[in-house]
Amino acid sequence: MEQRVRAGVLEQGSVDLLCCSGLGERLQREGMRHEGIELRFDREAHRVPLTGLTGRAITVYGQQEVVKDLIAARTAAGGRILFEVDDVRLDGLDSDSPVIRFRRDGRDEELHCDFVAGCDGFHGVSRGSVPEGVLTTYERTYPFAWLGILAAAPPAVDELIYANHERGFALHSLRSPEISRLYLQVDPDEDIADWPDERIWSELRARLETVPGWSLNEGPILEKSITPMRSFVVEPMQWERLYLAGDAVHIVPPTGAKGMNLALADVALLGDAFAAWYAEGRTELLENYSRTALRRVWRAQHFSWWMTSMLHRLDTQDPYEAKLQSSTLRYVATSRAYATSLAENYVGLPEV
Ligand code: PHB
Repeated sequence: MEQRVRAGVLEQGSVDLLCCSGLGERLQREGMRHEGIELRFDREAHRVPLTGLTGRAITVYGQQEVVKDLIAARTAAGGRILFEVDDVRLDGLDSDSPVIRFRRDGRDEELHCDFVAGCDGFHGVSRGSVPEGVLTTYERTYPFAWLGILAAAPPAVDELIYANHERGFALHSLRSPEISRLYLQVDPDEDIADWPDERIWSELRARLETVPGWSLNEGPILEKSITPMRSFVVEPMQWERLYLAGDAVHIVPPTGAKGMNLALADVALLGDAFAAWYAEGRTELLENYSRTALRRVWRAQHFSWWMTSMLHRLDTQDPYEAKLQSSTLRYVATSRAYATSLAENYVGLPEV
């Protein structure tokens, strides 16, 4: 869990939440505050001044660093985290005392609960524990995937570059002053074995080295993987005593950098709702959880779909759609109003 390379961008609200929860110490020391991003298309670079347009900024800090901080804080607070459990099943979700059953070290064990927070990811068991017919699924798959690499190369950028290119989308991100994180749009059925390091660098150069005087820094590739892209939501986010959060109920394509932020926003709502119930016996925050969370979820769904559609090469596109895509990019680059819309979604809307 602590090694797996995943997302890297925290909204201002996510940083504030982590800091308020006592998780900000390393984040504030090692996280890199960025006040803009770059859009690269038609052989030109356009900066979107996030902070200039919204007053807020993003922080680049790897998701697995957040996971490390969460595990350390929970352990230090005397909490128990059970790793390596198998055969997890949820029972009695429609009773006052649901039970989580699982196997650990070869033995059957049970956890008796007041509530179950289903934060177990897209492939977890929670969503599937809701009876048939209760949940409605909304989804979209895209005809491409992202090949991501982590490289021991000083990033050739101060801010993230999102590049639209006729060979396909590319993204230049980073993890530290010595480590670059880069992505390439590839076909969804692409085999990573067909992508030796030199092919990856040559494709990155072709898509990113499009403005005069700019070149990529290369170095040993430390990690590479291919991730499919999808948009996915199930509604409602709650059934009886089960409260679903994060990837267990919604997935966004990574282009808008929203996945980790949405998961944090869900658990922030849920945390407040549980606190109100345990401290004062109040139920309205629990009752409103799904409705409130889904407003942010759908804003992020739209934004992520929009960024994805604007920046990728769409194989199925007709010439009309290609013209619309390039007009959209130019509009973002030239209109303060449209750029502000991108910026406020990217840094995260405080209220949705
Ligand atoms: C990342 O650094 O991993 C990253 C950054 C921005 C994105 C997606 C991923 O939109």
